[in-house]
Amino acid sequence: MKISIVLFIVLISISFSIISGQNFDFNCVFFGSPAIYTCIIAGITIPDDANLDFNIGGNHILGLGNENVTEIRILDSNIPFIISEMFTSFPNVNFFGITEGGLRRIQSNAFNNAKNLQSIRINANKEFKIIQENAFNGADKVVTLELFENKIESIAESAFNGLHSLNVLNLRVNEIRTLPVNVFKDLQSMNLLQLTDNRLDRIEGGLFAQNSNLSTLNIIRNEINAIERNFLDGFEQLNILSLNENQCIDRAWIIGGSTSTLDTIRENLSICFDNFDTPEEETRRIIMEIRGSLTLFNENGTEIIRI
Ligand SMILES: *[C@@H]1O[C@H](CO)[C@@H](O)[C@H](O)[C@H]1NC(C)=O
Ligand SMILES: *[C@@H]1O[C@H](CO)[C@@H](O)[C@H](O)[C@H]1NC(C)=O
Ligand SMILES: *[C@@H]1O[C@H](CO)[C@@H](O)[C@H](O)[C@H]1NC(C)=O
Ligand SMILES: *[C@@H]1O[C@H](CO)[C@@H](O)[C@H](O)[C@H]1NC(C)=O
Repeated sequence: MKISIVLFIVLISISFSIISGQNFDFNCVFFGSPAIYTCIIAGITIPDDANLDFNIGGNHILGLGNENVTEIRILDSNIPFIISEMFTSFPNVNFFGITEGGLRRIQSNAFNNAKNLQSIRINANKEFKIIQENAFNGADKVVTLELFENKIESIAESAFNGLHSLNVLNLRVNEIRTLPVNVFKDLQSMNLLQLTDNRLDRIEGGLFAQNSNLSTLNIIRNEINAIERNFLDGFEQLNILSLNENQCIDRAWIIGGSTSTLDTIRENLSICFDNFDTPEEETRRIIMEIRGSLTLFNENGTEIIRI
């Protein structure tokens, strides 16, 4: 009896310390050295409620504080969106990672306060499907954005806006079927784009129009059966193009030297180009179902047959 009363009081005090009104408090485990000082967040579950306010605590290593944190790593947690308060608590973070973190979406302006962030790696989040408008707005120092082995299927046209310093975008192993045609337009510095193992079935010509610095483009194992004829027109630095294991093409090219030029690639892609110009005829099947009776008459109104 006494034990259960004590337990009850302990439980009440714990839940008050975690959720008090709209505030949600959780702790980092800090480790490392001043050079790489990491906040680890592990085993935490947060309700899918955008109105929560967050307070982030934890015991710092002696002599170090929030200003000294250079990395945030979220592991083995269930946190459905990006907690943007992390970047106000730890303004000097340059690496942000979520592995098996239960992420569901990157919401608009999630990284707005992440002024010093240079590298983002979000992988193995089985419910991560959506990147919303202006998701990375404000994170204008990010150089590497890795979003591989998630379930991304929807990327807003403005999702990557503002990422003017981005060199590497890795979207390998997701569920992407279509990309809005202007989705890469702010990524003029991008030189590596990895789209392998997605479900793209066509490439619009304007998709890479602003990515003149792209040097490696990998779109292996998608379902591409049509490519618009001006697909290669924006590239100035393209060095490796891999389109292996698609429907209209199964090939990679190294550009320059004697082997391939953009013109020979254009010739090799002629089937894909033709498919884009003349989309497959839509086949329609009509299934007619008759319930009750059917009577056919000739033009004079005389009954011919009754079923
Ligand atoms: C921690 O950050 C503060 C504030 O930026 C800075 O003054 C201090 O030198 C840093 N400490 C170490 C050990 O780098
Ligand atoms: C493109 O690359 C060149 C040289 O590699 C570099 O000088 C230029 O700044 C890059 N452009 C952008 C927009 O990053
Ligand atoms: C690719 O294009 C080059 C140059 O026109 C040609 O020699 C080669 O046979 C083509 N290969 C394929 C597989 O279409
Ligand atoms: C239908 O009527 C017209 C004139 O009334 C007649 O010429 C024609 O042969 C008739 N058709 C049949 C299938 O009975």
